[in-house]
Amino acid sequence: DLSVKVGDISLQNPVMPASGCFAIEYQEALDLSRLGALVIKSVSPKSRAGNPTPRVAETHGGMLNSIGIPSKGLDYYRREVLPAYTAFGTPVVVSISADTVDEFADACAEMSLPEVAVIEANISCPNLEADGMAFAMSPDTTYKVVSAIRGRTKHPFWVKLTPNASNIAAVAKAAEEAGADAIVMGNTILGMAIDVRTRKPKLGNVMGGLSGPAIKPIALRLVHQCYRAVRVPIIGCGGISSAEDAIEFMLAGASAVQVGTASFLDPGIMSKIIDGLQAYCVEMGVSHLRELTGQVKLD
Ligand code: DHB
Repeated sequence: DLSVKVGDISLQNPVMPASGCFAIEYQEALDLSRLGALVIKSVSPKSRAGNPTPRVAETHGGMLNSIGIPSKGLDYYRREVLPAYTAFGTPVVVSISADTVDEFADACAEMSLPEVAVIEANISCPNLEADGMAFAMSPDTTYKVVSAIRGRTKHPFWVKLTPNASNIAAVAKAAEEAGADAIVMGNTILGMAIDVRTRKPKLGNVMGGLSGPAIKPIALRLVHQCYRAVRVPIIGCGGISSAEDAIEFMLAGASAVQVGTASFLDPGIMSKIIDGLQAYCVEMGVSHLRELTGQVKLD
């Protein structure tokens, strides 16, 4: 049995895409009704063009990106984007990005629609402000934005934290106290790459978010620190590309996992991960996958 619960939300399995690493076109490679949930690329209430190109660069064991959350606004999103995702009977997670506390709270309230299963507040995008600043960098700003959102929606609401914070346990506790239903740990790590012939940064925005297998051990450690700090469920994210990776995250404390960069290399990877989880359960005699959460043996 691969089913898991994230707070009050039941998922048929713990595997879902990471925001921004998945689009409806994946249905050509993957049966979307098999996934635990569908997480859509962050939308911001304000229209934005996105960052200068190039927006992605390959690195050893990962990639850098600085997309800048291009957006045509919430009305367009609701009319033109959302309906395509709600057609599969799989719970839909809408990821929201915004510039201010009020804008976040308004946008989350506005997107708390019946067809939306969960709101994911992306308070950790490294590409909107200088030096990767984001609400999730500090416990204080995390508390402010999460409590403002909580005050405006009764919808299940997850908050996405950043590895760029210096004290992740304090940030996770702030998110929990402020009323988040779950924590997504986490987003990309601020990085940079330079072309030594042109001496130019490989990203138009100079710095960007590092993702992929290169960050997996860091993300795993952060999930475990959050697991020790809070009681709310944790969704693990960062470099997961196999069933084994997903199980590691669950043992460290995750109730579910998000797959990002790996889907760019193999759009069918999430289906293979689900098959791999099933095979692991059979091989290891695990009757309920969800019982693995937090079961790393520490002594
Ligand atoms: C973007 C947003 C993110 O949350 C992230 O981790 C990486 C990139 C973006 O659109 O730039």
